[in-house]
Amino acid sequence: MITDVHHVGIAVRDMEAALRFYAEALGLPLVKRGEAPARGARVALLAVGGSYLELVEPTRDDSPFAEHIAERGEGLHHVALGTDDVDALVAELRAKDVPLQDAEPREGFTGRLSYLAPEAMDGALLEVVQPPRELFGGSAGDCPVSRIDHVVLHLPNVEGACGRMREYFGVETKRTFERGEMRFSFLRPGDVIMELIGPKKPPSEARPGSIAGLAFEVTDIEALTADLKERGLPVGEPHAALQGGRIVSVNASGACGVPVAFIDFSDG
Ligand code: CO
Repeated sequence: MITDVHHVGIAVRDMEAALRFYAEALGLPLVKRGEAPARGARVALLAVGGSYLELVEPTRDDSPFAEHIAERGEGLHHVALGTDDVDALVAELRAKDVPLQDAEPREGFTGRLSYLAPEAMDGALLEVVQPPRELFGGSAGDCPVSRIDHVVLHLPNVEGACGRMREYFGVETKRTFERGEMRFSFLRPGDVIMELIGPKKPPSEARPGSIAGLAFEVTDIEALTADLKERGLPVGEPHAALQGGRIVSVNASGACGVPVAFIDFSDG
């Protein structure tokens, strides 16, 4: 029922600053821009591979996005899973007693959608969305950033979360490993990988989960790094990645609160 990670939502304080990084510096095409008055927000949707980034700037103090920024700072807000029948999916979630913020799907900026309640995934906010035809995912064209490689979720109980991803959405865990005290699980509902990270032994009093990081695949990591440096962004040096290829990080302060990494799997 799930086609892929349709988009990753980012709550930003300043839309123009967010667009300077994501649209200008990274070159991601802006495909839709507008207001979501009921949510007290203005929104911009950028294409990245077959998925999107949804930048959301609150316009009122009582916007849920303003509350998120007040509590956690700006940055990653939610992961939206795409489906071709959101009404059927949400009916199934209701039948399974999954806690939902929107018990009935509503018309949103990216399509017909429901938010799950935060506790459905231990504090990491998930959305399910049935996008309109034109937002089914295209390609980033000749943009230096070709796709979202993975999105990182920090969770207090990774094994439990993997069980819920299977129970709620039929998404299986592809791989799990442990290193030190940490457990890492990888799920692939579509093209984008979801990386779930948490303690090997779930503590009784745990910090709530969150959407914690974003990694993009790029085609020329040296050129992108040089360009980001020239723009004065806090970018590191490309180095060998554990999963193969080369990786470089941008400090969250340079990316509207989002820990961003770029991975280049090519040999050059
Ligand atoms: Co969304």
